[in-house]
Amino acid sequence: MSKLWGGRFTKETDELVEEFTASISFDKAFAKEDIEGSLAHVTMLGECGVLTSDEVQEITSGLHQVLHQIESGTFTYSIQDEDIHMNIERALIDAIGPVGGKLHTGRSRNDQISTDMHVYVSRKTKGVIDLIDQVQQAILKQADEHVGTMLPGYTHLQRAQPISFAHHLMAYFWMLNRDKERFQDSLKRTEISPLGAGALAGTTFPIDRHRTAELLGLHAVYPNSLDAVSDRDFIVEFMSHAATLMMHVSRLSEELVLWSSQEFQFIELDDSFCTGSSIMPQKKNPDVPELLRAKTGRVNGNLLGLLTVLKGLPLAYNKDMQEDKEGLLDTVKTVEGTLLILAPMIETMEVNVDQMEQSVQNDYSNATDLADYLVNKGATFREAHEIIGKVVLYGLEQGRSLLQFTLEEFQQFSPHIEEEVYDLLDPKAVMNARNSYGGTSEIQVKEQIQLAKSHVKA
Ligand code: ARG
Repeated sequence: MSKLWGGRFTKETDELVEEFTASISFDKAFAKEDIEGSLAHVTMLGECGVLTSDEVQEITSGLHQVLHQIESGTFTYSIQDEDIHMNIERALIDAIGPVGGKLHTGRSRNDQISTDMHVYVSRKTKGVIDLIDQVQQAILKQADEHVGTMLPGYTHLQRAQPISFAHHLMAYFWMLNRDKERFQDSLKRTEISPLGAGALAGTTFPIDRHRTAELLGLHAVYPNSLDAVSDRDFIVEFMSHAATLMMHVSRLSEELVLWSSQEFQFIELDDSFCTGSSIMPQKKNPDVPELLRAKTGRVNGNLLGLLTVLKGLPLAYNKDMQEDKEGLLDTVKTVEGTLLILAPMIETMEVNVDQMEQSVQNDYSNATDLADYLVNKGATFREAHEIIGKVVLYGLEQGRSLLQFTLEEFQQFSPHIEEEVYDLLDPKAVMNARNSYGGTSEIQVKEQIQLAKSHVKA
């Protein structure tokens, strides 16, 4: 089969080279975007008088035929045609004859592929934003039910202070909200059209780049043709936001794995989201959050891969840039799959309220409150800290929590401690005492949830 660019060549391409350089096995993922780009291009060429309206009509209908072949699965991709652009152009010429050869007027594959990817990444970005929103809604549902549910809050994975389970979950809501904002913000830089930049320097034809941008739903055009064909920042940005998102997902997943362990028993994931062991009949394994935690690795890897490909590339297009695609496709698939499974897994998880609350009864997570109490009685915080440290040490030796102390025992450490202290040391009181803005008291958490609801789709 002769190449669409074969004129200058006297020899056939080596078979190994053909296989090594072809991108059709993966860039066929952009077939739809490629045809949309061509439709916009040809419409504009007609409006600018570069093609006649008959030519435009023939090419447009040919492109629709090719799109139909692709969508119905009857299109045969050929490696000899190297990439999606030439596969489609060949099919177009097969369908409508030599007039199909006019489609590529005033255009290069360099601006073409970049356009395809801008449209594709814009679309995927919006899809990811919607999927993040669904996870946020699942979190909100659980949070709504568990404002008053207490569990130990941890620092250093040591019990620190009792907190509301809703408060803990909502921390993830806000992480995801920032992820959503980052993706949203990136659209400013992604919805920009390189089409019409040509191979690198523009074109001799009287084209209208703003018109093709408009037809493609892109809000601006690159002001510099060299930058237009060699910019892959928008892909780096998508992958980087994806990596941050997956880092958040992996933290949440780690907590789900911990919480569903025998040691914590704070939650139980729905059976439909767990798997068993082929040897140990008692096992119910949290495979899904484990895999979500692990998938972060490939998303990070894809980001680093692309940054490394781009580093040190001279202007303008270089074949190196073809290496941007597989990592991007893998990141898109991973992120979509992750978010799709995360939402229902959160929604269906059972919260073991008794177990959570039990674990804040018999520890020293109310020690800060006892210190604060002494401060209110006139001690400096450092003095109070020292005294309560001794109280805790005594309690540990005796094997008793603060609420199990007698008043006389307390008073050995400080005569200022009085009967009222027992109310204040109750875990629920400890939690609700943290009523500063953004704190864990039920009042604050309810307000927080109210605010959060204005950040998700209705
Ligand atoms: N398959 C190529 C890529 O993905 C399309 C652009 C090719 N341009 C070229 N001059 N070889 O980067």
